[in-house]
Amino acid sequence: KPYRIACIPGDGIGVDITDAAIQVLNKLAEVAGNFKFDFVHFDWSSKNFKERGWYMPEDGMEQLKKHDAIYFGAVGWPDVPDHISLWGLILPIRKSMNQYVNVRPTRILRGTEAPLKKCGPKDLDWVIVRENSEGEYAGQGGTTHDHTAYAVATEVAIFTAVGIDRIMRFAFETARSRPCKKLTMVTKSNAQRHGMVLWDKIFHQVAKDYPDVEWDKMLVDAMTVRMVLHPQTLDTIVATNLHADILSDLAAALSGSIGIAPSSNLDPTRGCPSMFEPIHGSAPDIAGKGIANPVGAFWSAAEMVRWVGKGELEEAADALMLAIENVTEAGIRTKDLGGDKNTKEVTEAVCKEIEKV
Ligand code: NAI
Ligand code: MG
Repeated sequence: KPYRIACIPGDGIGVDITDAAIQVLNKLAEVAGNFKFDFVHFDWSSKNFKERGWYMPEDGMEQLKKHDAIYFGAVGWPDVPDHISLWGLILPIRKSMNQYVNVRPTRILRGTEAPLKKCGPKDLDWVIVRENSEGEYAGQGGTTHDHTAYAVATEVAIFTAVGIDRIMRFAFETARSRPCKKLTMVTKSNAQRHGMVLWDKIFHQVAKDYPDVEWDKMLVDAMTVRMVLHPQTLDTIVATNLHADILSDLAAALSGSIGIAPSSNLDPTRGCPSMFEPIHGSAPDIAGKGIANPVGAFWSAAEMVRWVGKGELEEAADALMLAIENVTEAGIRTKDLGGDKNTKEVTEAVCKEIEKV
């Protein structure tokens, strides 16, 4: 029985990299021979929003639920305000599908160069665990006296004990599964004295259940400095929706490019399909040029293979990662990684490499 994958390419380079990822996944399945994908396309994009007035149809979530996983490109285009596009598509999916964890691994891929001279592959190997359902992106708040000089807007962050407890447990489990069993918890609990203090409190409670995991805590501003100056002191990181969003772009840049960074939006209970997407956006500045780096999309696809396989497709996922890194090491890279190849050339090279590994 094929794995049913809902594909939402979205906007800009989201379309290019989704096409590339599907090619690579089909090649992977073809070479492995023991599994298949059935890709179902959804044309939910900003362009269609302009014409139809909606991003998703009323029964959109029900349609998505019929799939084993969701593969997402990117959403957002200059002619639609970004808060409309994000809240039209990706944020409702994350929330409705109970995808309360966003896992963002970062490391320096073989053969690529990171911007910091003192930071090599041994120094930077992190997993950022992002709280993906509440916090600063709860969507609560409002504006009064809009369009006047006296406008007042509130943006209310919501933190619940249930939401914090489950993300902390996932983060500790992730840390436990990695060789150095180390977790760094990030807050801003000196200035934000309610929600972030609850984070601290629940973190300490949960930590008691993981005596084998070494942990420490950081304030988010100091964390940015530590990521740049002492990357080798970090391993697994847990942070709020907003903080982890920002830290993961920094992490991607430190590892070489935002174009390589993957993410998995997980419903750990497996009640709903999980969603896999590169962390970058639609990149209007390079859209349509065929030069987007597809590596973040491929890495996300590898994570999707792992997830839908429930332990049975580990070999295939590892083979895909191996193929990606063999290609980067061979110097077949897009411009953002210092190379001169385009999306198509990198994709074809990864497909060829899959046949070899
Ligand atoms: P962005 O990630 O689209 O681009 C930032 C910079 O990185 C640009 O210079 C871009 O060319 C470069 N870049 C990104 N991905 C790349 C790749 N694969 N290969 C080579 N270079 C790459 O972020 P930006 O410009 O802030 O946002 C553009 C639009 O995307 C906005 O509408 C924003 O709201 C949306 N967005 C959507 C996301 C999503 O769908 N998950 C995530 C982030 C932004
Ligand atoms: Mg982001």
